[in-house]
Amino acid sequence: MYQEIDLDKIDIYTEPPIEEPARQYYYMAKCRKLVEKETKQRGRPFTFCVTTFGCQMNARDSEKLTGILEQAGFLPAPDEHADFVIYNTCTVRENANLKVYGHLGLLKHEKKSNPHMRIALCGCMMQEPKVVEKLKKSYRFVDLIFGTHNIFKFAELLARTLEGQGQVIDIWEGTDEIVEDLPLERKYPFKSGVNIMFGCNNFCSYCIVPYVRGRERSRRPEDILQEIEMLAQDGVSEVMLLGQNVNSYGKTLKTPISFGELLRRVEQIEGIRRIRFMTSHPKDLSEELIQVMKASEKICRHLHLPLQSGSTRILKAMNRRYTKEQYLDLAERIRREIPDISLTTDIIVGFPGETEEDFLETLDVVQRVQYDNAYTFIYSKRTGTPAAAMENQVPEAEVKSRFDRLLSLVQENARARTARFADTVQEVLIEEVNEHDPSLLTGRMSNNLLVHFPGDAALMGSIRKVRLNECRGFYYMGTLISD
Ligand code: 5AD
Ligand code: SF4
Repeated sequence: MYQEIDLDKIDIYTEPPIEEPARQYYYMAKCRKLVEKETKQRGRPFTFCVTTFGCQMNARDSEKLTGILEQAGFLPAPDEHADFVIYNTCTVRENANLKVYGHLGLLKHEKKSNPHMRIALCGCMMQEPKVVEKLKKSYRFVDLIFGTHNIFKFAELLARTLEGQGQVIDIWEGTDEIVEDLPLERKYPFKSGVNIMFGCNNFCSYCIVPYVRGRERSRRPEDILQEIEMLAQDGVSEVMLLGQNVNSYGKTLKTPISFGELLRRVEQIEGIRRIRFMTSHPKDLSEELIQVMKASEKICRHLHLPLQSGSTRILKAMNRRYTKEQYLDLAERIRREIPDISLTTDIIVGFPGETEEDFLETLDVVQRVQYDNAYTFIYSKRTGTPAAAMENQVPEAEVKSRFDRLLSLVQENARARTARFADTVQEVLIEEVNEHDPSLLTGRMSNNLLVHFPGDAALMGSIRKVRLNECRGFYYMGTLISD
């Protein structure tokens, strides 16, 4: 676990150590000297901006990047008018890639007016060889490019970039390594993501994640528990355990352990009051997990259970390894055992070969399960995945119409599900001062719903009781109940 290491005591004029994480601390010390020098030359501080695209995993990785930049002596900037701008990219859908190119176009101009500016790119999109080729050819103004497997080497790569060694590119094809004990800077003082595993072995036929995040690797439970203990001591009361498929956690460890057992151990940690996790694959969701959730006082009443499609035929083509009936049965068991749970999901429309009949099966599952919320996506062809080579792609107009129909059903159900809590009192973790109205605070319930209510910013990070007075579609307006 990360310990405070005095970077100023590291001798950066000797050879760097070979072993990790000592090597990265050496480079952090080196970056600090380089930043100090440039700061003096320019007479003003060096600023940075980390922009994150994509999922919770990337958000957590960005906290690692931020931690290292702060150790190196950079100051945070409110936006991309900064001296060091890094995009932590996502490539799960084509749109995510297009956004990055859009941002780069704007930065190119920015860099002309600030010659000290450095631009870096990392994350999933960089693991695609075609992307890197394009960057090398047409985006020479990008100073640093690295991928998902070697993010732990950021300090070393940053030092090379600050030394001005031309365009620095370092992409690994894969890794077995998990480097622990590096600094990071949490976005919220009171809640934190915790990686429990990396990569994915499922190879859903539409999904690029296994190619860009590599094979599944679980962290050792002792490392995870120690990290959470330290977080608790540091004031964190809510943790979100992160992995592409948390239900298969621990299976490949030398001493295997189930996800349910890991949760039981996290539950024992004093100071932690809420536990969340993301994401569950329905095929691996065990009865043990349902029972652990049911018995738990800390695991939040929310389960994200991606459906992707309601048609058994399409699920097979997607390589999801469950049928419509198995999914429905699982959802029913979960609802029966934990009646107050919120179920949310991900759904893709327009997968190759999806017929109107297949789509109606999806609507049928949505109607039967009555999700509290659903993230709906239009299928996006990802080069290199098996689905990209499938012939019968669905015409765009058809996909759009299905998407709209799905969205209205999802929203109708979500509204009704949200409304069922009206006039109840719920415990919320107070997370934010409302952006538009600073007299309001925003709290998150165990089931992930948000409520806005009048209150003092000093309450931030505490867990309080709030009465839900008025349902406004997908959130509530409420009042704080004094203890
Ligand atoms: N096209 C559209 N949606 C996708 N997802 C993953 N790959 C694709 C793709 N190629 C969605 C899935 C997944 C979520 C994170 O993104 O629904 O659960
Ligand atoms: Fe992609 Fe499937 Fe792995 Fe999720 S489980 S990351 S959808 S391959």
